[in-house]
Amino acid sequence: VLSEFTDADAEAIFAYASNPRVAEMVTWDAHQSLEDSRGFLAFLASKASPQFRAWAIRDPQSLRAFGSISFSQYDVRGQIDYALSADHWGCGLVTEAAQAVLAWAWEEYPALMRVQAYCLPQNAGSRRVMEKCGMHFVELRPAAMVVKGRAVDLAVYAMERTK
Ligand SMILES: CC(C)(COP(=O)(O)OP(=O)(O)OC[C@H]1O[C@@H](n2cnc3c(N)ncnc32)[C@H](O)[C@@H]1OP(=O)(O)O)[C@@H](O)C(=O)NCCC(=O)NCCS
Repeated sequence: VLSEFTDADAEAIFAYASNPRVAEMVTWDAHQSLEDSRGFLAFLASKASPQFRAWAIRDPQSLRAFGSISFSQYDVRGQIDYALSADHWGCGLVTEAAQAVLAWAWEEYPALMRVQAYCLPQNAGSRRVMEKCGMHFVELRPAAMVVKGRAVDLAVYAMERTK
């Protein structure tokens, strides 16, 4: 289930985002305290606009959040980002969530022509998610950004509007 985050999600976010394995290949540090998770919620709230949407990935029964996925619109381009609790990896959940967000975005933004996603080249799981969503590998961008004080290469994936 995908739905908006609320302030009540801070503890559930902390439960997965405090895991160093989850934070290893993302731009943010593993959460050290509930304050970091509340900070994440504040960050999402500060970005709220027609050009940015974020959803909690929730257990369908308990509705407890165990991941996140977001969509950012930049004119005719879009971008998706995601993270999931380590104990749910490998079940197809982020692929399912990303496919749902992509289908939503093509409808929601008629001007959207292309959606991109980025990951560290060694993030095999993320690369596979992008492929399973129908994205194609575009390029390996050397020293594309600084993450946790280090210049990193990025693998760029994209898909174009088909209808
Ligand atoms: C990357 C991540 C989002 C994948 O989510 P997920 O729900 O486990 O992904 P899915 O189950 O939908 O698909 C993962 C695919 O990658 C494959 N995979 C995972 N780890 C792999 C590895 N180390 N080597 C090769 N393939 C790998 C899985 O086998 C699966 O492919 P398959 O269906 O063909 O077998 C999740 O691992 C995660 O949240 N990681 C930490 C945060 C992160 O890296 N976010 C992305 C930043 S760009």
